[in-house]
Amino acid sequence: MHVLSVASVKGGVGKSATAISLAYMLAMDKKRRVLLIDTDPQNATTSHFFADLQFHHTLSSVLREECSIEEAARPIEGVSISLVPSELELADITTAIDEGPSRWFLLHNALKEVEEHYDNVVIDTPPSRFFTTRLSLIASHAVVVPTQLDKWAVRGVNTTFRDIQSALRDQRLVNRQIEAIAVVPTFYEENRQIKDILLQQVRENFSRYTTNTLIHRATEIEKTYSIDNERLTPGSRAYAEYATLLDELIARGVINGEA
Ligand SMILES: Nc1ncnc2c1ncn2[C@@H]1O[C@H](COP(=O)(O)OP(=O)(O)OP(=O)(O)O)[C@@H](O)[C@H]1O
Ligand SMILES: [Mg+2]
Repeated sequence: MHVLSVASVKGGVGKSATAISLAYMLAMDKKRRVLLIDTDPQNATTSHFFADLQFHHTLSSVLREECSIEEAARPIEGVSISLVPSELELADITTAIDEGPSRWFLLHNALKEVEEHYDNVVIDTPPSRFFTTRLSLIASHAVVVPTQLDKWAVRGVNTTFRDIQSALRDQRLVNRQIEAIAVVPTFYEENRQIKDILLQQVRENFSRYTTNTLIHRATEIEKTYSIDNERLTPGSRAYAEYATLLDELIARGVINGEA
């Protein structure tokens, strides 16, 4: 079971859109059994799939050790994805769990119990440096860092890389290591020179990590993730870009090739 976090300290860069799209592509195109985990209290990913946010168990219950991942995971109709939902209450999670150092491994340990149930875990994380971002990074084999091409792009990716370094130090205590990172330029726009200048900066600063695949700013992506349960349309440019991105991530070893 391969664990991937989609993370960036910057908000609104396409983390949730990327996490949901990759989860779909893995399930539909690669026939993987996917566990999607929403670790953002703002729960964009959860509310994409479930209009009625009434759950018996959520990620909060898992982190409070009241239930297992499997008990919290909700199957998504028509596709081999299960979702561990989040809700606003997750924002207060740190007050509800023990202070000790073992708290950093709560998600990592909870995932051990579902090793045999899924091929891929995709974790959508909140912006900024919230507790669950660190838990997610510590549980991960790889990280995808979407970045908008704006003047904070390089700084935002640098900050996220520092958080990844710090997670790698914590991972020494458990048998886990972030082995691969990809920086994915998002909201790219053709015929806007500034986007190419910023893209060049990102490629120079993170040359080993930046994907060739660009995700264009697309009304289809915006529309898809504004309508509950909507999916990218096969044949559209947005669909093709995420499908190409998934293949590139597999080729780069950021996502496991064989399930
Ligand atoms: N390539 C794109 N083109 C156009 N709109 C997009 C694209 N990617 C995402 N969006 C839209 O932009 C908004 C922000 O995207 P998204 O929620 O995926 O970002 P995020 O990084 O998860 O944000 P947050 O940090 O708030 O969790 C959403 O309304 C989404 O539908
Ligand atoms: Mg999000």
